[in-house]
Parts: sequence; C-alpha cells; structure tokens
Amino acid sequence: MSHTTALHGSAKEDILESLYNQFTIDDQRLFKITQTFLSEISDGLSSYGRPMAMIPTFVNGVPDGSETGTFLALDLGGTNLRVCEVTLLGDKTFSLRQQKYKVSEALKTGEVTTLFDYLADSVDAFLTDTPSQDYDSHVSHADEDSSYVPLALTFSFPVEQSALDSGVLLTWTKGFSAKNAIGKDVVKLLQDAFDRKHIHVKCVALVNDTVGALLSRAYTSGGCILGAIFGTGTNGAYVEDVAKITKLSQNPTVAAGGEMIVNTEWGAFNNSRSALPTTPYDNKLDRESINPRFQAFEKFISGMYLGEITRNVILSLIDAAPQPLLFRGRSSVPLNKQWGLDTAVLSEIEEAWEGLGRFSPPEQGSPEAQKGEKLRRIQGILAHRLELSPPDISLADADIVRQVCNLIASRAARMSATAVAAILVHTGRARLWDRGEQSSVGLKDEGKRIGVGVDGSLVEFYPNFQTKLRASLRALVGPEVESRVDIGMAKDGSGAGAALCALVAQKQSQANHT
Ligand code: GLC
Repeated sequence: MSHTTALHGSAKEDILESLYNQFTIDDQRLFKITQTFLSEISDGLSSYGRPMAMIPTFVNGVPDGSETGTFLALDLGGTNLRVCEVTLLGDKTFSLRQQKYKVSEALKTGEVTTLFDYLADSVDAFLTDTPSQDYDSHVSHADEDSSYVPLALTFSFPVEQSALDSGVLLTWTKGFSAKNAIGKDVVKLLQDAFDRKHIHVKCVALVNDTVGALLSRAYTSGGCILGAIFGTGTNGAYVEDVAKITKLSQNPTVAAGGEMIVNTEWGAFNNSRSALPTTPYDNKLDRESINPRFQAFEKFISGMYLGEITRNVILSLIDAAPQPLLFRGRSSVPLNKQWGLDTAVLSEIEEAWEGLGRFSPPEQGSPEAQKGEKLRRIQGILAHRLELSPPDISLADADIVRQVCNLIASRAARMSATAVAAILVHTGRARLWDRGEQSSVGLKDEGKRIGVGVDGSLVEFYPNFQTKLRASLRALVGPEVESRVDIGMAKDGSGAGAALCALVAQKQSQANHT
C-alpha cells in the first residue's frame, strides 16, 4: 500500500506494502488463470469426476419470453430458503409471490431427512397461508399426476443430473454438511418428504441457481448465453453444443446435436491451486473450512469467504511485530471468532468510503475534511459491527481497514472476470486479447450483443464489484468484445428460472404422453 500516506515507520510500510503485493493480481496473472480455466473446462466436458464438474443439465436451450404458466418453486442454497409462486405472463415479464424461511445451522448440519422435511413443511405452509391459483399441472396430460401441484426445486449445490428431474448430490458447499446426503437423488429426497406428509406436490424439475439466472435473463431480455452467481457462492451455467459435451456421447437418452445448458460448478475451478494467487490468509481460511482443498476458486471470490479472509488479515495486523499495526493491538469477540466478520461489513465500509448509500456523509468541506468524515463513519462501523472499543480505533486504523477491504474485494472482482472470459473464449465469442488490433471476424455472434445474467449479493450490492469485473474482462478479451457483453441482473432467477424449467419438464412430459 505505497499510497498509504497516513502511515509512518518503515516496518509498518513494509508490512502494508507486502499485503498490497500479495493481494494485487496483474493482467498477466489473470491471463494465466483464464488459460487454466479453458483447459479445466475441456477436461470437465470430456470426463466425469473432474474437479470442475461441467454438469449437463438436460435443459436444451433458453426461453424467448413468450412462455406462460404458473408454477411453484422451492429455492435452497443461498442465505434463505424461499418458496415462490411464479406466473410467467408471456410478455417477457412474470409476477412472483414469495415467502422466506430461515435455515438454522442445526438443519444445515443435521440429518438430511430432517432438512428435507423442513423443506416440505415450508412448501405446505406457503400453500396453506397463501391459497393459490390454477397451477399448470391441472391441465397436464400426465393423468396420474394431475392432482399434484408441480414444483421446481432450485438446489444450488453440485448435483450430477441424469435427467431434468433427477440427480445425485456430489458434495456440499457453502457451509452445508447435512449427513447422509452425498450420492442421494435430491428430487427423491424431496418427493419422499412430500409423500410422507401427504402433501400433494410433485417435484418435476431440478435446477441450479445459475441455470435459473440464465433462463430468467433469457426470458426477460430476449437472449442470454451465461448465467452467473456472485453471492454466498460463485458459479456459472452456459449454453453449450451437445457435440462438445463428449462425456455424454455414450448416453443413449441424449440426442446428438443441438444445445444443452451446462452447469460448470466453477467454484471448484483449480482445486489444485496451480494457477490461483494463494496467500497465507487464504490457506488459513481453507485449512479451517469444512471442505479443505475443495471449492478453491469460490474461496477467493464469494460472499461466504471475503469477510473471513479480511478477518485473517486484520488479525495479522493487530498481532504485527515489533508493534501492532491496528487497534493498539486489541481485538474483539467477533474478530476472534471464525466467520465473525461478515462480508456485508466490508460492503458497508466501502460504501462509507465511496460516499454511497446510507453510509454516505454529506459532501461538504475540503477534500481533507470529507476524508476525515468518511473515516469517522468507518470508525463507527468498526465499533458497532466488530465491537471494538472506540478509543482503540484511530482514523489511520480506519484507513488501513478500508484499504484491506478494497484489496480483497478487488481481487475477487478481477478473478471473477477470468471465469466470464473463459466462457466467452470457450464458446468462440472472444479470443484472449494480445493487445494488438482487435478483430471480431470469425467469432461467434460477431458484432452482436452477448447476454449475461447475474445474481447474488456481491454483484448486486458490493460497491464497484461489477465495474471492476468489467474492467478486467476488457483487459482479457479486449474492448470490442467487452463492449458487446450485456451484463444484467437476473432478478429472482431462482424463482422465475425454476418456473421456466418446470415448463420445459411439463412440455417433455406432454410430448411423452402423445
Ligand atoms: C456453490 C454451489 C453451486 C452454486 C453456487 C452459487 O458454488 O456449489 O451449485 O451455483 O454456490 O450459489
């Protein structure tokens, strides 16, 4: 942090400089990461059991906005459990009613049947509390199922799908570890819970949140090739040529040719860490996590982890020798606790610094006075959210902490761009840019808009996350292609996207019955 003027003493500056160097990744490194990404994508498409699972979803193509119908969706995998009723209106819009339910730590880590019983109960409560409409199953031709309400399950974990409505859990991610779940069919687990409780709901489709984001963005914007989540976890799903999913070539149920959405599970990219810019702070986080050596890429990027990396760095500064570099060497209960620093706090600190949102100070006075006011706001956030004692937090401390937050979030945003760039290059829509003249001749979708749907707390709320991602994408694929990439929020992707998946399932079942 050579630009940290408020600091004195060369030991202090050396330590901060070293942090700056460790967390800053230059364009060369971004290129290397993207190249490794490309080879792991190919690897996952050709064989099962690879770190990046590249999961075929059995969804063949994306909607165009004209679809209609009312469906239930159940969404597990982010911060909350949600039950929604989605009505696709057929004019690129949809209406949605939803209810959120808490998922306790006990449910995340207990017996899987208890978790799925809770899911079924939540759906039951939703249907009882908010009596509903005509669900589309009532016109279904599948007679034995016609009295059931059709539901799509958005289940945002790595599930190896064998059909639109079945798939086994490969591993838990994002802090879930419910017992006796790995290797089980999650649709069956849910259906068994409904059946045990005599709830007349039939799970007709299984969808990852990235697939939901892709489908819902395609529905509302008229075209999308990639759905990506930058939230509690990170992952992407894109439209692939079936011919390129070579591991499917032996599967008799898949027609050759055409397209299929692939859920990359890029959170597990480079679990070997051969290309990732790992620091001791990342290693500490990984070692202490419930899935060491897994989800390597996700641990650099997503909301579940950025707070924890920052906590590790802050602790090292509190403990710095020969003298403490933060808070007069004092720590606090949240700072001493694993996961005690939420990524939302980083976001608040950066908002205060940027003069955004509710933490924004009034813009008055000299630049120095404004800076002082912003740092005082950050002091307040640190006292409140980290329970530090105010006399221990100097303005220089506040300045260091906001720079640490910025370093860690910027690294996340820059690394996120490598995933997007890799998909663009892999699908023939971009070439890695060598800084020479850029030509899009011969590229797929040459000269056209390239739709990308995104969702998740980081991309939606973290100050400048998307701007930084875009800047790095420009460095990777060049300004011509980057300017055609239309990144838009796939709001309610997990609900609307799931409904669209249920519609696909319904069409397939009708086709099978005629
Ligand atoms: C984790 C899950 C993945 C999900 C992502 C975003 O990476 O493994 O399935 O899409 O989080 O929620």
